[in-house]
Amino acid sequence: MKHDKCQDLTKKFNAIFPGGHSNFRVPFEATQNRIFITKAEGSHLWDADGNEYIDYMGAMGPNILGHRHPDYIQALKEYLDEMSLSVGSGILFTPADIELGEKIIKHIPCAEKVKFCLSGTEAVQMAIRLARAYTGRPYFIRFESHYHGWLDNVLGGVINPDTDTKPFGVDNPDLDLVTYTQGRNPKALEESFVLPWNDVERLEEVLEKYGEEVAIIHFEGIVCNHFGMMPKPGFVEKIRELCTKYGIVMSMDEVITGFRLGLGGAQGYLGVTPDIATFGKAMAGGVPLSAVVGKAEILNQLQDGTVLGPGTFNGNPFAVKASLTTLSILERDNGASYDEMWRVQNRLMDGLRDLAQKYSIPVLIHGLTGVFHTLFGITTDAIYTDADLEDFDLNLLYSFWPKMHEEGIIVMAGGRWYMTMSHTDEDVDRTLEAADKTMGTM
Ligand SMILES: Cc1ncc(COP(=O)(O)O)c(C=O)c1O
Repeated sequence: MKHDKCQDLTKKFNAIFPGGHSNFRVPFEATQNRIFITKAEGSHLWDADGNEYIDYMGAMGPNILGHRHPDYIQALKEYLDEMSLSVGSGILFTPADIELGEKIIKHIPCAEKVKFCLSGTEAVQMAIRLARAYTGRPYFIRFESHYHGWLDNVLGGVINPDTDTKPFGVDNPDLDLVTYTQGRNPKALEESFVLPWNDVERLEEVLEKYGEEVAIIHFEGIVCNHFGMMPKPGFVEKIRELCTKYGIVMSMDEVITGFRLGLGGAQGYLGVTPDIATFGKAMAGGVPLSAVVGKAEILNQLQDGTVLGPGTFNGNPFAVKASLTTLSILERDNGASYDEMWRVQNRLMDGLRDLAQKYSIPVLIHGLTGVFHTLFGITTDAIYTDADLEDFDLNLLYSFWPKMHEEGIIVMAGGRWYMTMSHTDEDVDRTLEAADKTMGTM
């Protein structure tokens, strides 16, 4: 692979932009060897040096159709021939708003009403505000290692080991290597109880003491942001039961899982219906749009002025058109393209497992339709808690994914793979060839 142009661009980029655009503590090499994309088609990307990649980054989630899906591009081109990019979210609307809202309500089990926002971060804050207003209570519960956006009250924080005090999350840079940040409002972590995932006893204990003060339990149904950790059988059902018992709003964060696992998202997959849920990423196929959906009595607080939810770009017509087109493509033949994506994905996961066995590399490869994870060092069949991740081998991971980049395969840093409808059997063959070469050196 050639890197001259990208290296030159990296220097210029780093002189202007402190960090990347979505800023985490990524490894130093990644910031020194940035990849600048100049062309995209289907499952493939090309960089400024002309290197070709198979893309499993999925734009960090939004890319569900593949790059430049012909029907998506055609619909947006036609739209641009006669419509504006913005008409004014609060006062002027488009008929497409209604069509999109109807589709969301049709597919998402909890959706009776829909509120558009712009990013996943905003949708989460909207969900918290709606729940606080609805219950008249101040606090929320979230779970360790779930991700809900970059704002102070949901970013990072760890479980407070002192169970005698209110078990608010606390800052601890040693335990929170990925999401710890300085510069936070010092009071922000006091808004929420951060609890261990899949721990019914702890959840019950906290609710017994503070249940009447909790407005909302907000969580990822399937923890895609933490190695695809699954809920233990019965755990999400328990959250449902406890939310009902204590009058707490149950809120599922579907920003990744929405329209990726299938048309019904994680709630459709798990068969448990929350009161509200947040969506983003894949719902518009790459154009920024997010939503809070859920029970009418909760969302209707926006109608009578109880709760405010302004936003210049909320429901902007271009994003609405993009989302409407995305969902129209995804729902064709009763969502048959999800089955095809799952078939291709399974070939890839099976092939990677076979290669790992060939080279005696311990790795758990698991996932659901549209997203899977390679967990090096893990030899169990499933992971439910951080204790199950004890053997996770960062060194093995780092000897895998940067080398895969060099072989023309782009995977997300933590070993997360996003599939799209455009990945083919040929992509799988090429990816497995690259993995064979890479694992052979590990
Ligand atoms: C589950 C989940 N919720 C919320 C967010 C925040 O979304 P955004 O980055 O669009 O603000 C993300 C982003 O990765 C996410 O994965």
